[in-house]
Amino acid sequence: MAMEKSTFGDYEMYTIKNPSGAYVRIASLGAAVQSIVVPNRNGVPTDVALGYDTPGEYLRNDGYFGAFVGRYANRISNASFVLNGREYKISANEGKNTLHGGNGLSKRRFTEIAVGENALTLGISDPDGGDGFPGKVDVRVTYEFSEDNELSISYEATSDADTYLNLTNHSYFNLSGRGDILDHELLINADGYLPVDEELIPTGEVRAVSGAEFDFRKMRRIENGFYDHCFVLSGNEPCARLVSRESGIAMTLATDMPAVQFYAGGATGLRLGKGGAVYGKNSGLCLETQYYPDSPNHPEFPSALLRAGEKYYSKTSYKFLIC
Ligand code: BGC
Repeated sequence: MAMEKSTFGDYEMYTIKNPSGAYVRIASLGAAVQSIVVPNRNGVPTDVALGYDTPGEYLRNDGYFGAFVGRYANRISNASFVLNGREYKISANEGKNTLHGGNGLSKRRFTEIAVGENALTLGISDPDGGDGFPGKVDVRVTYEFSEDNELSISYEATSDADTYLNLTNHSYFNLSGRGDILDHELLINADGYLPVDEELIPTGEVRAVSGAEFDFRKMRRIENGFYDHCFVLSGNEPCARLVSRESGIAMTLATDMPAVQFYAGGATGLRLGKGGAVYGKNSGLCLETQYYPDSPNHPEFPSALLRAGEKYYSKTSYKFLIC
C-alpha cells in the first residue's frame, strides 16, 4: 500500500494506492472523496466517483460532490428543533428548511490528524452555535483503502453539549465511469422507505416498499431517475449493492447506520467535471448512509442525539468487485 500527499491548490490531496494499482483520492477541502479508481472487467482503471479537478470548482459545487456532510445530513424541517426544552434555530439553506447542515462542513478545510500507509484521518471542529447547533463538536473522519478495493469511512465525534449529529459522505457513483446510471442495477435491503412532502421532508410515515417502485429488495435496473428517498435498512447484509453490466464493476455497501438516502442525481445541472467530463441529470447516484431525515422533529424515528461527552461512532464501507 502507498500513501502519497500532494497539493490541491491551497489544499492537500491524499492518494491511497493498493498493490493492484487501484486508488482513492481524498481532498482536505470538505474531506471530499475526489476519485475512486478501480479496474473494470477487462482490467482497465475506471474512475467510479464524480468529482472536480480544482478547489474552486469544489467551493462553487452545489451538489456536495464526494463531500463529507454534517452536522446533519439531509433535511431538518423549518430549520429548527427542540432539544432539552429549548428551541434551536439553525441555518436555513433550502427555502425555510435546512439541507446538509446549512452552511455545513462540506466546504470547510479539514486538518490532517494521522496519515498511514493505507489510511488517512482528517479532523474538524465546529464551535458551539455553529449553524445554530448546540455544542462545540470535534469530528474525525478516517478513510481506509484495502488491498481488495474496499473503501471504509469511519466517523468519530464528541460534543461538549447535547446535540444532534448525522454524518455521511456524499459521493456520486457511476460504475460505468461514463454516461448515466439509469442502466445500473441496484439492490437495497430495505422493507420500508420514508414518503416525503413537496419540500422533500418526511411525512413521518414509514411505508412498506412491497409492490411499489421503491422495492429494491431484489436486484433490478434503476430505470427511473427521480429517486431521492430515504430507505429504512432491514439489517440484512449487504445494505446495498450496485452493478454496472457495462463495466462489470459492482459495489457492495455495508453500514451500521439505520437508513440510506438513495438519490439518483436527478437535480444535477449540466457542468464540467474531472478531466473535461460532462455531468448532468443522473450522471451519478448517491447512497448516503445516515439517520432518518428530520429525526430531531420526529421522536418516533431512531434518535441522532449525541449527548455531551459521549462518543459518536459510525462506519460505512464501499467494496468494489468484478461481477
Ligand atoms: C438530497 C437531494 C439534493 C442533493 C444535493 C441529496 O442528499 O437528498 O435532494 O439535491 O443531496 O444537494
